[in-house]
Amino acid sequence: MQSYDVIILGAGGAGLFCAATAGQRGRRVLLIDHAEKPGKKILISGGGRCNFTNLGCAPDRFLSQNPHFAKSALRQYTQTDFIDMVDRHGIDWHEKTLGQLFCDGSSRQIVAMLMAECTKGGVEVRLSQPVTSVTHADGRYQVNGAFQAPSLVIATGGPSIPKMGATGFAYDLARQFGLGVVQPRPALVPFTLGPDDIMFRELSGVATDTVARIGKRAFREASLFTHKGLSGPAILQISSYWRPGDAVTLDLLPDLPGDWLIDAKGRAPRMHLKSALSLNLPKRLAEALSNRLDPGRELGNLPDKTLRAIARDLSAWEVRPTGTEGFAKAEVTVGGIDTADLDSRSMGAKSMPGLFAIGEAVDVTGWLGGYNFQWAWSSGWVAGNAV
Ligand code: FDA
Repeated sequence: MQSYDVIILGAGGAGLFCAATAGQRGRRVLLIDHAEKPGKKILISGGGRCNFTNLGCAPDRFLSQNPHFAKSALRQYTQTDFIDMVDRHGIDWHEKTLGQLFCDGSSRQIVAMLMAECTKGGVEVRLSQPVTSVTHADGRYQVNGAFQAPSLVIATGGPSIPKMGATGFAYDLARQFGLGVVQPRPALVPFTLGPDDIMFRELSGVATDTVARIGKRAFREASLFTHKGLSGPAILQISSYWRPGDAVTLDLLPDLPGDWLIDAKGRAPRMHLKSALSLNLPKRLAEALSNRLDPGRELGNLPDKTLRAIARDLSAWEVRPTGTEGFAKAEVTVGGIDTADLDSRSMGAKSMPGLFAIGEAVDVTGWLGGYNFQWAWSSGWVAGNAV
């Protein structure tokens, strides 16, 4: 049996950074992953450029049953701290939009940086190593009957994108040690639409600036029509707040006032709705919407009341998704290990000494835009200092 100070399960963003942090404090660290290489989700993230944090990172951009839980870790290790490390490694980056920071080069640089930090901390990394058993006796956690340590960190992520090796293993392990699990569901995920919204299917590939809204929660970014339904950043963002049966309201013309068609009628009474819409929307979308809405007359022949109603429809277009594309396509998982059973300052389990849980495995989920990696870094750092 090989002994360590801490064993970390999962070499994703959270596990790698936790391992590096603990190792650099002089802890003897073993990092285990069943995948053949570390940080696979980092590698594919941000279209291969890894949106590694967000300048506007703040606790209110995270979903959790306890919205206060993430505050401590996010305060202890901030986006600025991570940016400083990226700079120290000479990785060039840029802000794309809405505070989202991406590598100029490649996500591989972030994995290389984390691996270099692990090397600096003397971390032993074992890849292609399935975890078959975890037990606890005499104050020590034993993994696969071969490794033992007084501290164990669960960093095996959530079940989103199983074909990349993602599993619900973190939840099994949490339950084994008496921790609760908040029902996991796919988040940052495209919607599927039913026959009522068939019009949208013909628009597959069209993107448009949209405010997507459920109740008071609203996101303004692009929406993308797909052959199955709706995707694009605005849709992915709102999907994290969606529950089966909820309607999603789309403002397809967020910059236009309610009487814009009446103004258009005043300026060009012979114009048809299709042309008026084409001035403000992608052509294919304008055509599809006007086919659905257009009473077939020139604007000048339509009463103001009708024009106002059409404008209202376009700024509050209601779709009722039949579902989502599920964990197969979800960027993250909402839900996970119950924060009620964890200490927010250390990520340690309240009832199991030496047990920690970090990253996506925990019931803390960020918005789209670098927030989920920041959670991986912050929670990993906090646990790395506590083990
Ligand atoms: P993560 O899932 O990264 O790591 C878990 C590790 O545990 C994996 O290496 C896995 O192999 C291992 N593992 C799982 N089960 C195991 C088992 N039973 N035994 C042993 N090992 C096991 N976020 C963001 O902030 N910016 C972005 O640009 C993107 N982009 C993005 C794109 C795509 C396509 C996806 C799917 C996701 C993103 N994300 C993102 C989300 C981000 O990738 C995610 O939140 C973090 O990777 C979570 O880090 P963790 O380390 O917690 O889990």
